[in-house]
Amino acid sequence: MTLDLVALSPVERQHFLQAAIAPRPICFASTIDAEGRVNLSPFSFFNLFSTNPPILIFSPSRRVRDNTTKHSWHNVLEIPEVVINIVDYPMVQQASLASCDYPKEVNEFVKAGFTAEPATLVRPPMVKESKVKIECRVLETKVLGETGGAGNLVICEALRMHIDPAILDDEKKHIDQRRLQLVARLGGDWYCRVTPENLFAVEKPNTRLGIGMDALPDPIRHSKTLSGNHLGQLANVHELPSVDPSFEDERLRSIFQYYSVSPDEMEKELHTYAAQLLDAGKVKEAWQVLLALS
Ligand SMILES: Cc1cc2nc3c(=O)[nH]c(=O)nc-3n(C[C@H](O)[C@H](O)[C@H](O)COP(=O)(O)O)c2cc1C
Repeated sequence: MTLDLVALSPVERQHFLQAAIAPRPICFASTIDAEGRVNLSPFSFFNLFSTNPPILIFSPSRRVRDNTTKHSWHNVLEIPEVVINIVDYPMVQQASLASCDYPKEVNEFVKAGFTAEPATLVRPPMVKESKVKIECRVLETKVLGETGGAGNLVICEALRMHIDPAILDDEKKHIDQRRLQLVARLGGDWYCRVTPENLFAVEKPNTRLGIGMDALPDPIRHSKTLSGNHLGQLANVHELPSVDPSFEDERLRSIFQYYSVSPDEMEKELHTYAAQLLDAGKVKEAWQVLLALS
């Protein structure tokens, strides 16, 4: 299926883009108008774009259904300050409730049951329940269009972060990604949730180059058993490994004994074993298993 975005209706365009450009982190933005009325709304058109200077951007868009603009947008134009509160799993339903189109005079802190806590540098209050709150000043705004669905960028400089000590690592120095149960928005009503079980690490050497897929020996590169992820792990070593004579492995030995009469079967077994080792993050061992055939 190939889509020409200009030919789609705004609703269809929104559907396809939001389902594919996902998951998106959620900025729970607290803003205030010139009369001091507070607004609290979630925005998933949001991300970090620079750390030096620290810049966060979110977009309260024009509504697709009636082309109206949002109170959060009006507020940052009046008072260019915002607190970006990070949404985690324990608060996701309340954050969603805050997205209702309440009239301007209605405070979503009250409607959604959050506690307003004074910020230290800016006027909008922070969400006490949020594990991470970032006080920001609005540097610039940018209107992206005049019709329904058009974004309005709010470019913020992050000034001060407040972090719940409960999400810090044991040394109390950094955020432990396993302790912050982040949620993110996908297409339609779908969200996803970070849990220790669904987190995984991908090793990325910053300075040393991986050998690359094109440097993998042909039988490995064209394996019917190893997946793209497996090959990616194998090709991320800094130099092509060689056979390590001290490598001892019981299962490798039995594969050799059992399949010695059938080279094709043996290759399949070795690749299956290597795939399992790679799934367990054992790249060195997987290489030794694969090299055993050479
Ligand atoms: C998780 C979530 C993410 C949302 N992301 C956006 C967004 O990025 N941009 C947007 O315009 N509206 C977004 N919405 C809808 C707004 O939150 C909603 O229109 C907003 O609360 C309007 O409030 P306001 O007029 O008081 O600013 C989102 C809603 C939810 C529940």
